[in-house]
Amino acid sequence: MKKTLVLGAGGFIGSHLVKRLKKEGQYVIGVDLKFPEFSESLADEFYLGDLRDYTFVSQVITEGIDELYQLAADMGGAGYIFVGEHDADVMHNSAQINLNVAKVASAKKVKALFYSSSACMYPEYNQLDPENPKCGENTAYPAQPDSEYGWEKLFSERLYASFSRNYDLNVKIARFHNIYGEEGAWNNGKEKAPAALCRKIALVENDGIIDVWGDGKQTRSFLYIDDCLDAVIELIRSEFSGPYNIGSEEMVSIDEFVEVIAKVAGKSVKISHIEGPTGVRGRCSDNRLISHDLGWSPKINLERGISKLYRWIESNVKVESN
Ligand code: NAD
Ligand code: GDD
Repeated sequence: MKKTLVLGAGGFIGSHLVKRLKKEGQYVIGVDLKFPEFSESLADEFYLGDLRDYTFVSQVITEGIDELYQLAADMGGAGYIFVGEHDADVMHNSAQINLNVAKVASAKKVKALFYSSSACMYPEYNQLDPENPKCGENTAYPAQPDSEYGWEKLFSERLYASFSRNYDLNVKIARFHNIYGEEGAWNNGKEKAPAALCRKIALVENDGIIDVWGDGKQTRSFLYIDDCLDAVIELIRSEFSGPYNIGSEEMVSIDEFVEVIAKVAGKSVKISHIEGPTGVRGRCSDNRLISHDLGWSPKINLERGISKLYRWIESNVKVESN
């Protein structure tokens, strides 16, 4: 049995990761500002507290941790990270967490540390053509992320890499590309396109109209949570350190994405394109490196994963409207 520590265990990916690690039979300690919102945490121990506080971090990262998963961050979808008003908090909060965690994890000789970076650290100039975005791991420099959230991720990647070089911290870094699934933010302003568009479609009558930010031609790829967890666990237990893209290569425009959701919902919907935060024009994971090194590739296609998310959102919408 491994002793594992999940920072951000009250969040979307962290709460799913705790369930997965428990299913494997590991001893799991969870830490977050809050408990998971949608189901009880399965962690053996769960500590509520603020990872910006160095003393708290020194208490929760103890000697003898086999695997530390650092998922805590101030984050959200386009409606949170591209609007500007959260920039200072996003940078300060997440950087402070990572500064504390890197230092204490080195001092306490954590055996392996996973850090969740984001595709948002890739330069905007390679993501201007929606049909042909470039997101190979080696395209990160010259750096030009389009959000402060992306700059903080790039800074923290470099922070962990320097602790790896100077203090032998065994660091593993992944750049997530839009991960979705049940039990994530869906109606609090932090939701990403998958949950937001499922919610809009669940709320509309057949043949009704939904609002979509931008012209709908911007592209993305979306990865289902179970595939993400497979990759994260394989990476932390591998001889490799990354950074690796963890995402899907099934690229769709946002309008095409709406069609996929409408199909699983069994509805026909019309789109009204409205102004809103749009982020990069095109983005898609490039999985060549991770599939070469780790033999990982996603198993769950977009339609299958979205139908799971849609059913979950639909049931929440029904509960809220009763
Ligand atoms: P999330 O917001 O659901 O989870 C993050 C958790 O961190 C939250 O529960 C939050 O309460 C906690 N947290 C924030 N500040 C804290 C603090 N000061 N002390 C303690 N806990 C704190 O987000 P998620 O989707 O689960 O993402 C997990 C990680 O993966 C984040 O680092 C995120 O930036 C990264 N990521 C996610 C995606 C995605 O599509 N979900 C994409 C790229 C990168
Ligand atoms: N959230 C949201 N809500 N997005 C919408 C909506 C809506 O109602 N309508 C259209 N969109 C469009 C956005 O304008 C954007 O162009 C696209 O859908 C994707 O939006 P998000 O899913 O919110 O964010 P993102 O893909 O730009 O960035 C996400 O993924 C990154 C990793 O790839 C965020 O979650 C980042 O935090 C994450 O790092």
